[in-house]
Amino acid sequence: MKIVRSVNRMFKISSAARRAGRRIGFVPTMGALHQGHLSLIRAARRENDLVVVSIFVNPLQFGPKEDFKKYPRAFSRDKRLCRDEKVDFVFSPPADEIYPEDFKTAVLVKGLSDLLCGSSRPGHFQGVATVVSKLFNIVSADTAYFGQKDAQQTVIIRQMVRDLNIPVKIRVMPIVREKDGLAMSSRNIYLSSRERQDARVLPEALKLAKVLMQSGQQDSRVLINRMRKLILRKKNAKIDYIAVVDGKTLRPLKKVSSGCLILAAVFFGRTRLIDNLIAA
Ligand code: PAF
Repeated sequence: MKIVRSVNRMFKISSAARRAGRRIGFVPTMGALHQGHLSLIRAARRENDLVVVSIFVNPLQFGPKEDFKKYPRAFSRDKRLCRDEKVDFVFSPPADEIYPEDFKTAVLVKGLSDLLCGSSRPGHFQGVATVVSKLFNIVSADTAYFGQKDAQQTVIIRQMVRDLNIPVKIRVMPIVREKDGLAMSSRNIYLSSRERQDARVLPEALKLAKVLMQSGQQDSRVLINRMRKLILRKKNAKIDYIAVVDGKTLRPLKKVSSGCLILAAVFFGRTRLIDNLIAA
């Protein structure tokens, strides 16, 4: 496994691999890898000749009051995990390789970036779209792998790839959960043990929505209210949003239908967790 720091070198490696007819699978990450990331890497390994994992904590996607500085960084451990998964290249550029001093461009996917998570994290998805489009150009992968946990991110990236004719296939892999249901996230380590206990209510609320849907409940308001009530039983939980939306347009739906998304973002203490469910 090779560590690549320079954009030019990564570009040359992937262009040569493409010319040689090798399929490239790409897993973009911000490091602090967990089982969710490993499931993406494993899928990339199964389906491609060459696997590139990027590890880059992207400053553009953090708001001024967010956790960019304290975002977990665990490069040695990440390298070991990547090596164990037989990753070919870890692309981990310094920030000024990605954003040189005269960098001026932003990629904005209009209409999808300012709602749900985007409304409490202004600029976040513009930062994501900008870095992901750069990474797609640098790595020129055949297929890129993302996790369903970041449902809004995947919708935005699919839209961006369509709109800009970026020649990459997007694969979205299922959410990987802890034994008690909590979705894996690099931010789970911020939780105190009390908050960690409380956070179980988030997947439980989604499970409740699923059970209600299975018993014929289709009214989004009812589902949202029941989820809200369950979550607010935890005194320290603060709901950012709960929403039922179309899986492609992210427009709110009055009635649930197959393929729609039920999404929630909840603070436990200062840590904001997200989770979601695709209606069957
Ligand atoms: O999902 C993430 O970890 C990040 O948003 C991504 C896609 C690596 C872009 O920085």
